[in-house]
Amino acid sequence: MTQALHTLAPHANITRRQVLKRGAVGAAALTGLGFPNIIKAQDTLKIGVLLPYSGVYAALGESITTGIELYLEAINYEIAGRRLELVRGDTEVVPAVGLEQARRMLESDRVNLVMGVVSSGVALALRDYFIANKTYLILANAGANTLTRAARSEYIYRSSFTNWQPAYPIGQYAAAEIGKTAFISVPDYAAGHESASAFKAGFEAGGGEVIGVQLTPFPNLGDVAPFMGDIARSGAELTYAFYSGSSSLSFVNAYDEFGLKNAIPLVGPGFLVSEDGLAAQGRAALGVRNTLHWSPTLSNQANQDFTALYRETTGQRSNLYAVMGWDTARYVEAVLSAAEGDTDNDAVLQENFANMTLEGSPCGSFRMDPDTHNVIRPYYLREVQETEDEDAPVGNVVLRELGEIADPGDDSLESPIS
Ligand code: BEZ
Repeated sequence: MTQALHTLAPHANITRRQVLKRGAVGAAALTGLGFPNIIKAQDTLKIGVLLPYSGVYAALGESITTGIELYLEAINYEIAGRRLELVRGDTEVVPAVGLEQARRMLESDRVNLVMGVVSSGVALALRDYFIANKTYLILANAGANTLTRAARSEYIYRSSFTNWQPAYPIGQYAAAEIGKTAFISVPDYAAGHESASAFKAGFEAGGGEVIGVQLTPFPNLGDVAPFMGDIARSGAELTYAFYSGSSSLSFVNAYDEFGLKNAIPLVGPGFLVSEDGLAAQGRAALGVRNTLHWSPTLSNQANQDFTALYRETTGQRSNLYAVMGWDTARYVEAVLSAAEGDTDNDAVLQENFANMTLEGSPCGSFRMDPDTHNVIRPYYLREVQETEDEDAPVGNVVLRELGEIADPGDDSLESPIS
């Protein structure tokens, strides 16, 4: 095991409260409830990983998987004495495919728990199935707001973000420091709509006005020329865009090629200029201001170690999605360890899923909101700039720390686009 892995070691990060909880479970095991636990301790723990490995978000799925695997390697694929086995399923970004894969995992592979999911549309389609089957679903990316608002559940927890979290603050910032009129470009599905609504609310709160919205085809963006033409003619002082995966490459590169980059500042959540796509965007991404809960240059030790480990293992620079995979695996491990690996102990699992705090996240911190079941983290305002790094001549630089941002937990800070 490398030094980097060592300093990122698990267990040391678990709060005293969780250690006490573990002790409590251990005591219960010794007073008669223990026999089933001992049997269970020898069973393999099967964890489903539902992610897109094809289509527009394939790169996200691969990075999240790498992050998960790096963490599981660090704990030797073992939790509370149980051997871990991962079962993968490709959701693409199609809700029906996600549901089919989930059924296969729960009904044939008999997984104990599932993590992953990138697309909000897929996550929304999975909700009722997981609740009906009393199986835990840990969202490692999909931001669909309602899953940790009105439609929250004891069986669903999110270790990533809501679509609101990065979008509302960039709206406030853009109105205060860039301009008072904005044009929005987002893909026509749940995450695009929610991201636009949150940006609009933040922008309006800062005194700005959204003067046009364009909903582009999802999952395939197709020919971007007409969209660029509409933006150029909009007369807005800035553009807000939510794109990720291969569509973020198409959009940002076209924005530059059509001469918009220097004329109409482009802002968005950090997915737009994520580190996994920056090499392909190159100078086209320069100047894009964006908000995210992670950046490669964060100086905390866990981030330095993770970034070094990721580069050492994959030969690439680390990115948000890999960090989400890593943190999600840590979160699941911490909760299952607190339950002594007993995936049927709902009382202990739910208590710990809802209250977990992890020290040493590459993001700076990880604190689960017990009311919403959505993680609270520090957010950062970033800008793509030229860097001194020969391997990464264009990179995100943190302009400002925005402090911890929690999802509001309801729809009060929304400004729907239709
Ligand atoms: C979503 O569908 O929720 C999503 C997809 C990619 C990046 C961020 C959010």
